[in-house]
This record gives sequence, structure tokens and C-alpha cells, in this order.
Amino acid sequence: AQYAASPAPVIASGVLPVLKQFTLPEALGFGRVMAPIMYRAQFRNGGWQAAQVLPYEAISIDPAAKVLHYAQEVFEGLKAYRHSDNNVSLFRPLENWKRFNRSADRMCMPAVPESIFMDGVSAVSSLMAKHIPAKPGQSLYLRPFMIGVDASLGLAASLDNDFYVIASPSEVYQQGSFKVMIERQDCRAALGGTGNVKVGGNYAAALAAGRRVQAAGFDQSLWLDPAEHRYIEELSGMNVFALINGALHTPSLSGSILPGITRDSVLQLARLSGVEVIERSIDINELLEAVVSGECSEVFACGTAAVITPISIIADGDIRYEFKAGNPFATQLHTLLTDIQEGRGEDVFNWNW
Ligand code: COI
Repeated sequence: AQYAASPAPVIASGVLPVLKQFTLPEALGFGRVMAPIMYRAQFRNGGWQAAQVLPYEAISIDPAAKVLHYAQEVFEGLKAYRHSDNNVSLFRPLENWKRFNRSADRMCMPAVPESIFMDGVSAVSSLMAKHIPAKPGQSLYLRPFMIGVDASLGLAASLDNDFYVIASPSEVYQQGSFKVMIERQDCRAALGGTGNVKVGGNYAAALAAGRRVQAAGFDQSLWLDPAEHRYIEELSGMNVFALINGALHTPSLSGSILPGITRDSVLQLARLSGVEVIERSIDINELLEAVVSGECSEVFACGTAAVITPISIIADGDIRYEFKAGNPFATQLHTLLTDIQEGRGEDVFNWNW
């Protein structure tokens, strides 16, 4: 696939020196080490201005900017991988671009043209090419985002908007497995709300539950649906799957769940492996009974940051449901997916850019 590139972004004079000085630390973690450059395109007077690649630095916005008061913000997460031939590959970036614009539309923000989105992620990842860590599980995590910057406190959509791409050489979000706790009190997203788009407010709304869960010794909240508090939805930044009687089940896209690109990739890879996939409403009680009876043998999370991470415990208040028999299916899917992403396996679906 091709996109019509915009005029090449202007590379500010400080960019090459900061890239030259940059060294990759030994310990990366997720999202902690920032690339020393960023891409910026500004929407002013109803149109996009010429984009720039700049040294990474603090940005200056008016204290009355809409984003700071009314959370007019959207973002994406995608990864660039350095393959063994040193080519840099993006994983399904057009899917991120499409979702970004669905999010922007929901937040009354301008669509970002394909050329700007793709130029932004391409410029940052190609300038960073030498510094993309390339051991298994490592990548350059790209974070495109857009903020409303109009300076006035009236509740209205910002006319001026800034689009950025920042990046972080990273490892997988969490090594090992997740311990999750069913969230019986809060909801992550309302029906008719913004749960199906990628906007900062969804994540801020999940923090209080996250704090409770972590205080109890767990990693993530397992959210239930907002209407009946009965059907599983997702974790705060990942989709969720269950292997039940050999078929792969995942909550259907109810409107309050983020349509994950990794979720879609997992569905396609499972189908290709000959496994039946079932998208449906999954009642939490049915799931827990299936765990107890052994019919549900594995539950796992997936997302761009988390890739495919097994869930080892589901807690419901004080009751714990544990998976002790390993995660052969999640492991098999993880191998299939990361072999494509990291350039070891055949890219059967043409996902790599
Ligand atoms: C991603 O997987 O890209 C996300 O946005 C999840 C975030 C919580 C790190």
C-alpha cells in the first residue's frame, strides 16, 4: 500500500545533534525512555500547516487550552520494529490512522490526513532507526496524539489543534502474566460514551479502580459492561480473550470496548490456525464457572503495548480463580504474532509496512 506523502517535514536544526548524542540505556521498560525527537503538525485557520521534526522538549500551551480543561485529546499506540536486515517495519499503521480519525471525529477534532499521520510515524521511526532496540519483545513504541489548544474556557470544540508523534524505545508492557481483579464498582465507559475510541479521558477514568486493584496486589481491572455489570468488557488498556472448550471467545465490540488492532490480529491468526473464534457477550458468572470446571483453560490479554500476556489469576473480591496449567495457546499465538512483527515469520496478511 502507498500513501501520498506530504511535502517532506522540515527537520529542525537541533534534530541531528540530539540523535547523535542519544544512547540507548540498558534497562528500557515500557514508555520510560523517550526518543530525543518528535514530529509536530499544527491545524490553524481550518488547515494543516507544514509539519516539523523537532528535538523532544517540553511544549508550551496556554493555561486555558481546551485540552487542559475539557480533555479534548485523542491518541494512538503502535510499534516500529527493526528487523535483522535493519529494515524498519511498522505494524498495521493504517489501522491506527483510521482509528485515530474515528477518535478525532468523536472528540470534534479535525481528521488528520493519512499523509500527515504516516509521515509523522515514518519520520520518527526512520530517524530513530539505529536506536530501535531489536531483541525479542523490544520495539520503538510510537505515540501519535492530538490536543485542542484554543485558549478560552467556553465549552466548545477547539478550532486550533496540534498533532504530535513522540516515541519510546520500549520492552513489552509487563513481563510474565497479569493478575486481574473484576471491577464490581466503577464502569470504564458508558453506553453511548467514548469507550470505543482512544481518548485520554477513558484512561483517566480507570485510574481510581486501578489504584484499588494495585493496593490489593493485582495488576489490572477486569471491567464489566456499564448497563448490567454482568458481561466482561476489557482491561483498562487491553482486550481480553478466553479459550473455552478449544474455541477462542472474546467480547463482541459492544460500543464501550476499544476495537483493538492486536485483538483483530489475534482473531485472524486464530482463524488461520484452524481455531473457532466466537465474538459474543460473555457473562462473568459463566466464565468463572468455566474456569472452575476446567472448560476455560486459558484467559489472556492483548494490546499493542501488552502484545499477548497471559492472565494467571482472576480475583472476585476475596475469591481467586487461578490458572495453573500454563498457557500453551496464548504462547502459540504470541509466537505467530511476534514472528511476523519482528520479521522472523512469513507476513501472510501483509501487515508489515
Ligand atoms: C497500547 O497498547 O498501545 C495502549 O495504549 C495501552 C496503554 C495503557 C499503554
